[in-house]
Order: sequence, then structure tokens, then C-alpha cells
Amino acid sequence: MSGKINKTNAVKTKTIMKIGEKRIKKLERLNKVLAHAGIASRRKADKLIARGHIKVNGKVITEYGIKVAGNDEIEVNGIPIFKEDKVYFVIFKPKGVITSVSDEHKRKTVMDYFKHIKQRIYPVGRLDWDTSGILLMTNDGDFAHQMMHPKHEIEKVYIAKIHGLADKENLRPLTYGIKIDGKKTNFAHYEILHVNTKKRVSIVKLTINEGRNHQVKKMFEAINLPVQKLKRESYGTLNLTGLKPGEYRAISKKERRSLLKMI
Ligand code: URA
Repeated sequence: MSGKINKTNAVKTKTIMKIGEKRIKKLERLNKVLAHAGIASRRKADKLIARGHIKVNGKVITEYGIKVAGNDEIEVNGIPIFKEDKVYFVIFKPKGVITSVSDEHKRKTVMDYFKHIKQRIYPVGRLDWDTSGILLMTNDGDFAHQMMHPKHEIEKVYIAKIHGLADKENLRPLTYGIKIDGKKTNFAHYEILHVNTKKRVSIVKLTINEGRNHQVKKMFEAINLPVQKLKRESYGTLNLTGLKPGEYRAISKKERRSLLKMI
């Protein structure tokens, strides 16, 4: 969501959100509750509140910092929201699958692997259609926002098959930052895993702590070593161990804590 209001949520679609059994038990800040429900990041939720989009117990609320309890009725543009159980998954996204909650051309999306999950989950960030690898899915807007916020600099490791012969000289700019889309990338770390001089291809492991659009492809493109194949091996403290393409598993509480510790 990257701080943007989730287009699939009740605000945009006027669809009533899937209702979970659990309601809020203790007092929680309204913006946090909205973020947890996947409506928007906390900051965007504050804006929705300030602009009068949110009602609590039938009354429009425009003040910051208000807290709500489990029996408070919250509406976004007249549509009630309810808390669902929070769920967290990690999937090995295969190549040829779109990272999106829907596709107007009916192409395969990551959601197709979660058909029997009743919660309204969505991807944390995205992988390109032709990129495989680790992807986090959740219905916890707050968690997703934390993972994706650039200031938290969560490390992601990619294995790239590139066209050309990689060496210390031509890869050096990756380390110190390369200008892509008018902005320099953060420091990155690379490791040359294999160079095939006959086929003129190389395998390079690249660790970055950002999540800009097509970032890895653009970084290699900028040093004239175009990516032919890309896989994301790890996301923060999580990796693909035990998963085959198309398989997913739940993220444990301990794993979630270790991810959140990084920020
Ligand atoms: N960088 C890319 O270029 N593509 C991805 O899918 C992920 C990171």
C-alpha cells in the first residue's frame, strides 16, 4: 500500500469488509484500528479522520488521537468496518504471476493461491510478473506499512542472472548507489556467485534495503548488465526454506517479532 489508501477497501469500493468475529477489546487509537483493518496507513487514516470520512457510533470524528473500544461502531464513508483476525503468510511467488489482488485481464495473481483464506489479505509490496521468490501477504495494514516504509530499510536479497560478465569493476557502482529515476539508491551489497564466460552470463546476489519499482532490474540496467532472470531469496529475517514455487506458509509470532525488531 506504501501509504496509499488501499483501492480495494471499503472506502473505494463500497463493499462491506469481511467480518471477523474478534472485536477490539481494549482502547486503541482510531488511526491504528483503521490501519489494522487495511483501510490506510496510520498517517492516511489521520487524514481520513480530519476530512470527516470516519464516524464512530454514528458521529463524525475529526479530532486526532481519539481512542475507541471494542463495542464502538466505526464507519468509513458510511460503511462499517470490523476487525478480522490478523493473518500473516509468506509465499514463494512463481514466475508468471501478478502481485495484485485482482487483474482486469483475468491473469493469474498471487491471490489465486489463497482462495480458501477468508481474511482479506494483500501483498506487502510487489514482485514483478517475471520475478519469482519470497512475498509477504497479510491483512494487517499497519504491519504491511511498517515493512514497506523506506525509513525502516528492511533488507531483501535477490539472485539475478544477468547478461554480461560481472566483475568487481563493473559492479562497484551497485555498492555506492546508482541514480535511477533521478534518485540515488542506498548502499547495496553484492556477491558474484558465478560467471559463465562462454555464454556471457553471470549470477549475482544483491542485497538492497529499499523497495523501489523494478529496482534491481534498473540498477543492473544502469551498469549495462541487463537482468535475464530474478528471484528474491529473502525478506528481512525470512527466507524460502521449505517452500516450493506456489507454496506458502504462515509466519509465526516469533518470526513476526524478529521482523519488527529490524525496524
Ligand atoms: N526489483 C525488480 O527489478 N523486480 C522485482 O520484482 C523486485 C525488485
